[in-house]
Parts: sequence; structure tokens; C-alpha cells
Amino acid sequence: MKTTDLKLYKGNIFYFNENITLKDFSPDKEAPGRLYHYIENGLLAVENGKIKAVGDYDTCIKDFQDAQIIDYSGKMITPGFVDTHLHVTQSGIVAAYGEKLLEWLNNYVFPCEAAYHDDLAARIDINFFLKELIKNGTTTACGYGPLKYKATDILFEELSRRNMRFITGNTMQDRNSPKYLSLPAKENYEIAREIILKWHNKGRLSYAITPRFAFSSSEELLGLAGALKMEFPDLYIQSHIDENFAEIEGIKKLFPWSKNYLDVYDRFGLATDKTIFGHCLHLTEDEYEGMRDKKVIISCCPISNSFLGSGLFNFRKMMEFTDRITLGSDWGAGNTLSMLAVLDEFYKISMLQDFKVYSMTRWFLATLGAAKSLGLSDFIGSFKPGKEADFIIIDPKATELLSYRSARVKNIYELLFVLMTLGDSSLIEETYIYGQSMKGFE
Ligand code: GUN
Ligand code: ZN
Repeated sequence: MKTTDLKLYKGNIFYFNENITLKDFSPDKEAPGRLYHYIENGLLAVENGKIKAVGDYDTCIKDFQDAQIIDYSGKMITPGFVDTHLHVTQSGIVAAYGEKLLEWLNNYVFPCEAAYHDDLAARIDINFFLKELIKNGTTTACGYGPLKYKATDILFEELSRRNMRFITGNTMQDRNSPKYLSLPAKENYEIAREIILKWHNKGRLSYAITPRFAFSSSEELLGLAGALKMEFPDLYIQSHIDENFAEIEGIKKLFPWSKNYLDVYDRFGLATDKTIFGHCLHLTEDEYEGMRDKKVIISCCPISNSFLGSGLFNFRKMMEFTDRITLGSDWGAGNTLSMLAVLDEFYKISMLQDFKVYSMTRWFLATLGAAKSLGLSDFIGSFKPGKEADFIIIDPKATELLSYRSARVKNIYELLFVLMTLGDSSLIEETYIYGQSMKGFE
């Protein structure tokens, strides 16, 4: 007889309607009810890591007479967050004082990432990072990994141990970097190839070709990154673009033949519909059009952009060109792994540009919207039966302030707004990955 592990979760269930896109959200009014499901006193049935059923508790419970019920009454059960840009390796320098991008990289980031040359230090740091990430309710992320083979292998091993759906790769760099954090182009390529063959598409893991940014890449390195994409067309690619003015000036000098920053990546076949570009702040008109035409995935990192003084992401304008817009914490320039905090900052930087972003729109970007942009919505992002059961339990009464404030909301729109504005990891009561509670995971 086939053994199953059926569990029922009771609570207030919130998730988006499967068929919607960013275009369904009006900039002028809150999302209509047809875009989402909010089931107060609902039931989520999970079996062998997958969503089995979802609906009203009193109706659905009849189908599952003898199963174990986990009671989260009064709490919200909702899909885990998707963070499309972070650095696994930067926990050791998060909250470093007072520099803009290039100085910050040289003074803090590069020395910190060199600690990953020690395998034990790498494993400890990766475990610390993943624990924090999961505590914050993020169940899928696109992460920049370490430079070298062994530490990258450890990262994949730790992700696999948790059965996470995750996109990552070794961060490649071969110039404008200290000797201790630089490898010859060919060596970066060989590490990548070995990791791809071992880990790409293994379980829930995907490999991303990860040239740190064009500023730290020779043409040879970018060419080899492009060759990997040719050899393995389903790979993701991730890099930084148009984050900082000094960086952009550097790109003009390093690649004098280029039309713009995006053109550099494009020349090497790296601007694709599976490319995730972090930041995208100071784009020329040609680059906005290029982002649209190449169908790249945009990752806006508002907390990092404020912290490093990089600039304001223009969401209103970007939406005129593409709906493939997602959000990233950019940990360790971002000082939190909480996507709630990222959503809060996204609201604030839009307000600074006289543009309001409604609660539902933002929540969509960090869940089903990101899953769709990444091409992962067959697997994650909502509670459609058959999808993988990555979900979180949010306690709107987790702190005295939240309890006081959430008792006064009139509807789900206000509740989401309050959670994003006041929330952090303290209100994520539990994170489930592929149907398994991560509480106490070591
Ligand atoms: N550009 C190149 N590397 C980095 C990084 O580690 N963080 C950020 N924010 N930008 C980068
Ligand atoms: Zn980054």
C-alpha cells in the first residue's frame, strides 16, 4: 500500500488567483476580489510535499476525515516569499558603515567573501544564512554564491538538505577584484561547468550563471559565461546592472565599444528571458527598451539602493516596458532578509516619486508574480493543487503593536498593508518547505 503523509492546516488562507499577471493590477485602485482568494477559516491540505486541496474549512474537512489537523486559527496561511536577488556570502558584513558601491565592495564585501576559502567557515556561514532566510519566510531565492568550487558545492548540498527551490551559482570574477577574490576566466568557467553537471535540475535546484557584474569581468569571462548558456540553454543568468554612477562610468571605459551597460551583457548572449538583472536604476531609454525586447527579469532591491545611496527604482516607468518585475533583499547591502521590509521600502521609494503602489500589487510581486517571472509558477507561488507546498504562517498578533493595530483593520487590503509596514521575522510563526516545517531544522 502506498503510504502518504497527509496534513491539514486550518487558518485564514490568502493567495493569488493563478491566471493573473502584473497587468491585472490597476495603478489607480486596489485589486478587485477576482485577483485573489482570502478564505477566513480555510483549510489547506498537503500530501507528500504537494498541495492536495484548498478551500473553506467546513466544506473541505468532510473529504479528509481521519487526517491530522494543525490548527492555526486566527493566523494567515500563505505562500512563502520569493527573493530574486541576494548574496549568500555577505552575512559577515551586513550593516557596514558609510560607503557607496565600489568602495563598499572593496572595503567590506571582498574581504568577507574570502572567508569562504575555508570550507568549515563556508558551511557555518551558509547554515547561519539559510536559517535567517527561512526564519523570514522566504522559501525560494536567487542567490549569488561563493567564488570557489568547494564552497559552492557545500551551498548546493545545504540547499538540497533542506529541499529548497533555489537558483544559485558560483560568483565569477576575474578583474577589478583583489587577487584573493579573483580567478582566471577559464577557471571560473570550469568551476561553473562542474557545478552545473553535478547540481543543475537536481531536485528543486537550478543553476544560475553568475558573473558578479561586467565591471569585474573580462571579455573572456563574459564570453565563457555566454558559452555556458549556449551549451545549457535552460540555465538562469544573474548579474548587476545600472546600480551606481561610478560603476556605469567604469563600464564605459572598460567596454568602449558598447552602446550602453545592457549592450555589454547582450553582446555575450547574457541578456535573455532567464536573466535576472539586479537594481536597474539608471537606465537610458535604449536600455528600458532593451529590457523589454530581451524579456529579461528585473529585480528591484529598494533597501540596498537606499543603504548604498544608489538611487530610486522607477517602478511606474519600468511597468510601461515590462511586467517581469520582481523584488530582492540584496542581502548584505540590504540590511534585512525580510521581504515584508523590502515591500515596505518599495512603497516608500515609490512615494518619494509621487507614485502609490497598492498592497496587493506589492504582495503579488514577492510571491506569485516572482514565480511567474522566473518561470516557476507551475511549481510555486500559489495554492493551486499539485503545486509544491512552500508556505508560511503569519501571526498578525505576534507583537503588542501588531496585535493592537491589526485588531483595527477593516479588510485584507489594510491587513496586508499593516503587515508590510510593521512586520519583520517576528510575525513569521512557521515556514514550511515542501510540506516540512523548518522549525528546529539543524
Ligand atoms: N555589484 C557587484 N557586486 C555587488 C554586490 O555584492 N552587491 C551589490 N549591491 N552590488 C554589487
Ligand atoms: Zn547584489
